[in-house]
Amino acid sequence: MTESSKGQKMWGGRFSDKPSDIMQAINVSIGFDQRLAAQDIRGSKAHANMLKAQKIITKSDNTAIQSGLDTILEEIQNGNFPFRDEFEDIHLNVEARLSELIGEPAGRLHTARSRNDQVATDFRLWVRDALDDFDLQLLGLQKALLAQAAQHTDTLMPGFTHLQVAQPICFGHHMLAYLEMFSRDRSRFADCRVRMNENPLGAAALAGTPYPINRDATTKALGFERPMANSLDAVSARDFALEALSCANICATHLSRIAEEIVIWTSTQFGFVSLSDKFTTGSSIMPQKRNPDAAELVRAKVGRILGSLTSLSVVMKGLPLAYSKDMQEDKEPVFEAFDALSLALAAMSGMIGDLTPNKERLAEAAGAAYSTATDLADWLVRTLDMPFREAHHTTGSIVALAEKQGRALHELALHDMQGVHDAIHEGVFDVLSPSASVASRTSFGGTAPENIRKQIGLWKKQL
Ligand code: ARG
Repeated sequence: MTESSKGQKMWGGRFSDKPSDIMQAINVSIGFDQRLAAQDIRGSKAHANMLKAQKIITKSDNTAIQSGLDTILEEIQNGNFPFRDEFEDIHLNVEARLSELIGEPAGRLHTARSRNDQVATDFRLWVRDALDDFDLQLLGLQKALLAQAAQHTDTLMPGFTHLQVAQPICFGHHMLAYLEMFSRDRSRFADCRVRMNENPLGAAALAGTPYPINRDATTKALGFERPMANSLDAVSARDFALEALSCANICATHLSRIAEEIVIWTSTQFGFVSLSDKFTTGSSIMPQKRNPDAAELVRAKVGRILGSLTSLSVVMKGLPLAYSKDMQEDKEPVFEAFDALSLALAAMSGMIGDLTPNKERLAEAAGAAYSTATDLADWLVRTLDMPFREAHHTTGSIVALAEKQGRALHELALHDMQGVHDAIHEGVFDVLSPSASVASRTSFGGTAPENIRKQIGLWKKQL
């Protein structure tokens, strides 16, 4: 008879009494760590195959273990696996079920292994899978931004500093700015993946094991780069999760910025872009409303994600080596943060694909608020050989004049401008329009449509 079928804890040998309900309640993790099921089974299969290859278990025991684990994976995928609180966590649930399915050989699976290296392995595999998913989602978002950039290479809009109109830019340039940020997010996740892709399995409880295991074999089977070199580190390290959360937090920060811009741009006061019914909601009292809820929720998700990073940082702070049960609290923050980021990425890709820039409104706003004043100053420098500081001052006087007359810069009469500086001539009007302004900004990285087209070409190749 197996221990579990006697109604005893898997670890119950030296215990004569059952744990209290409170003990059970605080100890149990199956409610959330069942999300590691696929990784747990993958790890166990690799471990058992290695034990067999090293002649630590027999071929027939391994065959039984492998087919039992396959059945369990099917049960989990079909939603009919009996998750049971009494078995605490995913590791013991799987092992208990294996013992029900195949009997005695199940008891040999845990040879040369501990739940400490097992959970570290499962969790690494899970986080690694999540990083791969983020990479795909970020790629999708980049493609959506690229499509908008390609469609709106020449679409004018005001560029802002301090949320005050600064200089005209192109909508495509704005989209590409985020594309760059999300590309760095991808590379951050990729760096994190490289660093985390080491195998803790075989560290056993904390000190290694006397069995002649082959850690390279499980490393290869699980797609890790190398076995972790120190058994204490292997079971204690959670910096991989902290690093992944940090990357997620930075990515969510970027998402919150573009989300905020969508909230601003869709407001009636701005009217820069519109979202369709797909990504907006109505108000239950104000029939006229169309609210950018998805953008607002994406903007908010960073709170949850940073909260998770904070939680795990505090859980890990000051923990002595090696494993402590505190570390069971590592998973929920990661699950919560990653679910939030995944949803936020999906919503943002959807919104970017969905939004329609209002070209007329954008062009009008691009020319407002003396946005080409810098172009005027640059013209004075280049055409009249004025020092930039003097040109800045002269332009300021012309802006004041325009303000007094209630006109835009390009609407001023030449002789009025000549009243400020007599050498100003007709040629000045060539630089006062927003489209001339953006076309002139050809320095590398600048907003000139010809630059944007080049960048779009490069991104198309890269993505
Ligand atoms: N459920 C545990 C966790 O998530 C697994 C490891 C338990 N190890 C132990 N020695 N009690 O951390």
